[in-house]
Amino acid sequence: MTRQMTLIGAGRMGSALAGGWLKAGFAGAIDIVDPNASGTVSAWADQGSVRVNPEVAHADLLVVAVKPQVFGGLAPSIAQRVGPQTQVLSVMAGVSLATLEAKLGTSLVARAMPNTPGLVGKGVTILCTKPEISADTIAVLKSLLTPLGTVEGPIDEDLLPAATAVSGCGPAYGFLLAEVMAAAGAAHGLDPDLAMRLARKTVEGAGALMEASEEDAATLRRNVTSPNGVTQAALEVLMSEAALPSIFKQAIGAAIDRDNELSRETE
Ligand SMILES: NC(=O)c1ccc[n+]([C@@H]2O[C@H](COP(=O)([O-])OP(=O)(O)OC[C@H]3O[C@@H](n4cnc5c(N)ncnc54)[C@H](OP(=O)(O)O)[C@@H]3O)[C@@H](O)[C@H]2O)c1
Repeated sequence: MTRQMTLIGAGRMGSALAGGWLKAGFAGAIDIVDPNASGTVSAWADQGSVRVNPEVAHADLLVVAVKPQVFGGLAPSIAQRVGPQTQVLSVMAGVSLATLEAKLGTSLVARAMPNTPGLVGKGVTILCTKPEISADTIAVLKSLLTPLGTVEGPIDEDLLPAATAVSGCGPAYGFLLAEVMAAAGAAHGLDPDLAMRLARKTVEGAGALMEASEEDAATLRRNVTSPNGVTQAALEVLMSEAALPSIFKQAIGAAIDRDNELSRETE
């Protein structure tokens, strides 16, 4: 079915999505609304693939990818593009379904939480919808998000802060792991640059191995841990009750609390 798609905000996430829709041959017209369209977006427009900042019209699908802080001010102009049949999908962090519904004047709203690896098609995005949404609409929304990588869900909104704390924030935890491993190596005498190269490639490689393997993370970990060996000595420290398991539970809890606070600020 041919659809009219409107994307509001073609920054990093919006452009990654639109680029994927174009690559996949989206069956419909794509309008992009962004006052400072990038060179990439202008090139798409020059090729006739998209229209940039076209006059206001109701969209079939409307994807909102502006920063949450500017959404409140923009909502009245976005709402003009929302008709009775428009399905809205927001990728904005911390803007609730109730806020979208109230500010855009429609009940056809859904949210998704992507993560940064989505910018290279290696992300995981969690879809969040209302319980009454149809299976067909879920399938359409998931297909819109596939340019960013894997799509999970839908889940209920009350679980979105926990999912955000795991996968939305998660890339930062992976980067931090490389940082702290490198710092620890340097503290034990390695040249800091060499330590960083070793740590970075190790985190990248572990991710690639996990992607290529059908085994779960715990099995992969056990596979590289010889009984009474060197890795086991390190893991006994990392996995002790007061170490990573408890620190991560606290960190995820802090992220959930902050997500809830931000949601209240954008109401
Ligand atoms: N990047 C991520 O990894 C990530 C992960 C999860 C969720 N998200 C969510 O995705 C959304 C976008 O993030 P991003 O990283 O793509 O941010 P971004 O690169 O700053 O993109 C936002 C875009 O919206 C544009 N914009 C500003 N005012 C506008 C207006 N009046 N009308 C239309 N467009 C306007 C911005 O233009 P200017 O630059 O000229 O202001 C920019 O191109 C955010 O809500 C964020 O919470 C992002």
